[in-house]
Amino acid sequence: MKKVFIVLSLCAVISACGGNSNSGTADSSSTASTQTTVSAAKVAIDPAAPAAKLMAAADCYTCHKADVKVIGPAFADIAAKYPSTPANIDTLANKVIKGGKGNWGEVPMTPHPNISLADAKTIVTYILTLKK
Ligand code: HEC
Repeated sequence: MKKVFIVLSLCAVISACGGNSNSGTADSSSTASTQTTVSAAKVAIDPAAPAAKLMAAADCYTCHKADVKVIGPAFADIAAKYPSTPANIDTLANKVIKGGKGNWGEVPMTPHPNISLADAKTIVTYILTLKK
């Protein structure tokens, strides 16, 4: 009986991973269906935006959505907190690359060392337009 349970939970884990893996392969059709359907949302991520493609290719949508908090704050809340100034864009882009916690709570954001500063700025500039 125990074995059956283990096998079943393994299947659940595997299928969960399978479901998630499309956030890595950023073809716009999968991002459109899984990542941007925030029902009754006033704020929506345009999957065709260059920043949205960068985010889909990274893991941002695992923890962030346009206007609801998931593990990380909603992009709309981030946009409400930070005016879109060069200094804020710089700070936030570096935070995306280096990770960290403390501005929204004790849960840290993972670092993203593979994202270039230029790409991180493109992403953050776009996030800061996602106001409610
Ligand atoms: C493991 C979950 C996770 C992933 C993946 C993640 N984030 Fe975050 N993010 C968080 C958390 C948690 C916070 C709040 C950190 C804090 O309290 O300072 C955050 C905060 C932020 C902030 C605001 C930072 C601040 O100092 O106010 C931005 C901008 C952001 N994330 C963008 C991104 C982008 C872009 C990506 C993808 C490259 C990404 N996040 C991936 C969890 C995540």
